[in-house]
Amino acid sequence: MLNPYKIREDFPILKREINDHPLIYFDSAATTQKPKQVIAAIKEFYENCNANVHRAVHTLSQESSELYEDAHEEVAKFINADSMEEIIFLRGTTEAINLVAYAWGLHNLEGGDEVLVTLMEHHSNIVPWEMLSKTNGFQVKYVEVNDDGTLNYESFENAISHKTKIVCLTHVSNVTGFINDVKNVAKTAHEHEALVLVDGAQSVPHFPVDVKDLDVDFFGFSGHKMLAPTGIGALYGKREVLEEMEPFHGGGSMIKEVTFDTMTKRCSSSLNDLPWKFEAGTPNISGGVGLMAAVRYLKDIGMNNVKVHEENLTEHATRRMQECDKVKIYGLKDASLKCGIIPFGVEGLSSHDVALFLDSYGIMVRSGFHCAQPLHEKLKLKASARVSFYIYNTPEEIDRFVEVLREIEQL
Ligand SMILES: Cc1ncc(COP(=O)(O)O)c(C=O)c1O
Repeated sequence: MLNPYKIREDFPILKREINDHPLIYFDSAATTQKPKQVIAAIKEFYENCNANVHRAVHTLSQESSELYEDAHEEVAKFINADSMEEIIFLRGTTEAINLVAYAWGLHNLEGGDEVLVTLMEHHSNIVPWEMLSKTNGFQVKYVEVNDDGTLNYESFENAISHKTKIVCLTHVSNVTGFINDVKNVAKTAHEHEALVLVDGAQSVPHFPVDVKDLDVDFFGFSGHKMLAPTGIGALYGKREVLEEMEPFHGGGSMIKEVTFDTMTKRCSSSLNDLPWKFEAGTPNISGGVGLMAAVRYLKDIGMNNVKVHEENLTEHATRRMQECDKVKIYGLKDASLKCGIIPFGVEGLSSHDVALFLDSYGIMVRSGFHCAQPLHEKLKLKASARVSFYIYNTPEEIDRFVEVLREIEQL
């Protein structure tokens, strides 16, 4: 079992007081706090072996390259990819989706094709497809969401056809916490010869993910939502799909050689091997080192333990919040189908008012539409407040939060 009280000792920031109250951090879906093991790994990297990777023959560069490659290996094992060649490091989920859109979509989508996207997506899985459709002329079709925020599988079955070239969906909604049946969606998509891109920003940090078992073609996630620093994340791609793809960015590291032809007066290049073909320029090396430390930290705890802990917290919070007269939880309430996230509102108050009031008691929650405006429209909401939990949260923090909610109700 996971012991949050012991885990909390690894997170220096949790000792802070905000507005004279002990900090209660309920915004981990936006970004998680960082344990001292991750901070120490980054510090150690800069103090002892900082050098650029894959460029020089000197010792520091060798050490740094080895660390950076180890980080790819660690991430590959964590999500059960076949090898590190299927793991591309980039800035995060947003960049992962843009890479698929521009390195795959730009060359494979045209008029008459369709891209299926669900209405519960984060803007980062909507906007790149809408942008690309303007230049490539394909259609973006939306899969419906039910009134409780769950995915409407019937709408998906009706929308998919031989015109569908890729299905883009989130593993877990960042608004409701609802977990999609990605494996089933991938099976149906493949029966129609469509690829599947999964936004794993809210799943990899919270429960075991096995990309081979899910049988998806692309899977992107962000390090900063799983204890690692900001500016580092990963895209998993099936080797055979990545091999066929054009690069995303051009520059150093992604090519083997560039030669100048004196006849044509042009340069031509040969592409590097996977995954470097997609990692142009100097990468975020210290971010990779931090991500490796974060993955090791989570592996030591055990991802099944993380899942059970969050389920317990969600169940406890849902029950306690329902005791409040003016608090309304939006969408599905069954904690076993969700992942550590509860969107809610307080009658008569805007979500920002609720968040500001909670902040005055040291409680950090998100407010607004969480970069998922179409889903809010579907749920007939202008905005929502959102609590999201992680390994360092406790039932006592939830009880304190409910106590403050009761005060808000008196406003
Ligand atoms: C479901 C989901 N997808 C994508 C993103 C974008 O992640 P990032 O900003 O790290 O690229 C987020 C961030 O909140 C998210 O929750």
